[in-house]
Amino acid sequence: MLVMKNTLISCTVILIMTHIACNNGNPANKKYPDKTSATDSIINSAGNTADAAYRKGARLIAANDCFTCHRIEEKTIGPSYREIAAKYHFNEGNVENLSHSVIHGSKGLWGNKEMTAHPNLKMADAKEMVRYILSLDTTNKNTIVK
Ligand code: HEC
Repeated sequence: MLVMKNTLISCTVILIMTHIACNNGNPANKKYPDKTSATDSIINSAGNTADAAYRKGARLIAANDCFTCHRIEEKTIGPSYREIAAKYHFNEGNVENLSHSVIHGSKGLWGNKEMTAHPNLKMADAKEMVRYILSLDTTNKNTIVK
């Protein structure tokens, strides 16, 4: 009887521990946020559920005017952030060039709409935003050159 009781207790302990182990996946560990949560989280909670490394960029995007013309999934006035992530490899050269586009504006690369310049943005902040955008890539992740 005592043996059975002990077995029962250890089984319960193991069950609880497995449960904890399986549930420590906090949202920051999710590499690619799913559709609705990506957009909602950035607009509603300034990127709290974005991948931890890119959260600052997500917050900066939410705090600036970027969502006037961009969405994560849908093309609106500007290309969607996923489209941008799919077009450019995630490397420092592209981070630099795209940050330059954000600060100085851009026209003619994606169509005939124009991205206004953001002359008050610091280069370091623009880079954080672009890193977040490029982190949204779901297509060429195997060819990332960092
Ligand atoms: C007035 C609308 C508008 C706003 C505001 C805006 N964008 Fe854009 N964005 C665009 C358009 C339109 C394009 C495509 C430009 C082109 O065809 O060259 C674009 C392109 C981009 C690109 C790709 C540039 C390239 O070289 O391919 C990035 C990255 C980007 N936007 C990020 C941002 C960020 C970050 C913000 C906020 C700081 C922002 N945008 C604010 C309209 C906007």
